[in-house]
Amino acid sequence: MSIFCKVANLITFAILVSNSVCGEDAFLYDVFPPGFQWGFSTSSYQIEGAWNEDGKGVNIWDTFVHRFPSPIPDKRNGDIACDSYHKFDHDVSLLKYIGANVYRFSLSWSRILPTGRIDHINPAGIQYYNNLINLLLANGIEPIVTLHQWDLPQPLMDIGGWQNEEVIQHFSNFANLAFHAFGDRIRKWVTFNEPNVMCVHGYLTGKYAPGHKNINEALNSARNIVKSHAKVYRLYDRVFRLHQGGKVGMALFSYWLEPKDPQNPAHRKIAEYGMQIMWGSFAFPIVFGNYNDETKQLLGKLRKLKLTSAPVEFTLEESVEIKGSYDFWGLNHYSTYLVEPSKLTSSILHGDLIGLVLGAKISVDPKWPQGARNDITVVPWGLRKTLNWIKERYGSPEIYIMENGYPDYPNAGVEDVSRVQFHRGYINEMLKAVRLDGVGVTMYLACGLLDSFEWSLGYTVNFGVVYVNHSDPERPRTPKLSSACLQQIFAENGFT
Ligand code: NOJ
Repeated sequence: MSIFCKVANLITFAILVSNSVCGEDAFLYDVFPPGFQWGFSTSSYQIEGAWNEDGKGVNIWDTFVHRFPSPIPDKRNGDIACDSYHKFDHDVSLLKYIGANVYRFSLSWSRILPTGRIDHINPAGIQYYNNLINLLLANGIEPIVTLHQWDLPQPLMDIGGWQNEEVIQHFSNFANLAFHAFGDRIRKWVTFNEPNVMCVHGYLTGKYAPGHKNINEALNSARNIVKSHAKVYRLYDRVFRLHQGGKVGMALFSYWLEPKDPQNPAHRKIAEYGMQIMWGSFAFPIVFGNYNDETKQLLGKLRKLKLTSAPVEFTLEESVEIKGSYDFWGLNHYSTYLVEPSKLTSSILHGDLIGLVLGAKISVDPKWPQGARNDITVVPWGLRKTLNWIKERYGSPEIYIMENGYPDYPNAGVEDVSRVQFHRGYINEMLKAVRLDGVGVTMYLACGLLDSFEWSLGYTVNFGVVYVNHSDPERPRTPKLSSACLQQIFAENGFT
């Protein structure tokens, strides 16, 4: 059988299976509105490598992964990663081949400002991103820039990291430089990627760099990140928006919390409470100017327990700057959990404090498929519910799906039928949200293009639709079955 027939057969098989298991309702055959954008999302530390080349400074992930003993299960790191610093042209060719029309990448702050401060600009860092941006544009692919995806320059960590208010000004200086250097060609900026996950795992569970375990640090960092975001948004408003005409927003991680027994009002109440807490520290202040009541009460309790010094509210002055500081909402969504009230506390979930503080019991339905990570279950309808929840609570913002993807084992091979089912299922539920529920989603980015460094999991799990052989110094890239599936969806703008 020719390779072509084999791929076609496998896709047909995956389509048949995904059409039968992917959602609560029947599969929807329809297309997205014209202009819908399709592409991929990634970040500097996960793919670039070249960790100490051409004048780059050290960041907290460099420090974290070089610890002895290594905190990463396979003892590997992002020193070389996918070597995209040298092979970005290969990545752009792959994007073009799959038919992406947008690509989100993050800037390595220490590649541009080795000390994190504006006093020393590294021209090689600016050049690298200029080359990438120009090549993307030459291939008809819109570059989307994330200013910060977790790799804080080490010298700024040495003064306390995000919990130190001084870092707000350093971030603003970095953003100002990025707007000046690249803003003539960038129409969409993401200030922070998943700050909720960054604060919880960086400062509370210690699973991510800098590896701290301190709830007070986590909460103060979260607060300073909201202020940093707003400061940069206002800077763009004042200085750049008129002539650059771009949009600025944030990408937030959110799963869906489903009441374990939807008929039980107590289950429904705790699920809603959980969602409010998850969106309460970042989105609520940015949209409405201050924390929601649930978050205020939670902070109040933690202050009483002397677990934090973080204030329960933003001041009036802060609030004025923060309120409305967004042009879109970026949503990173992967998974769904069941929730019910409980006197016991379950473990801390990815990106929030629900398990720790609420005494809510979190579980999953054993019938839900799972990939290579036990915190990611395959529940496509959870995405539709999340989108509707955002629409109803947050006044119908424009929503970009900035990450959605399936975790596989590195030896899973290139015939990744489960990933095909995952993307078809989730994209179809997004289609229902757009076409049947009127949710304003205008972009879908898959995480990720390449099998890359997966943070605290090293290379033991991958999300790529392109296989990267990390044992080969050349880091060759081979498209998987899922890239053919996305190629078709992108080309058809849905499911025809
Ligand atoms: C979170 C991060 O933004 C991204 O870097 C990571 O690969 C995925 N989600 C999966 O964990």
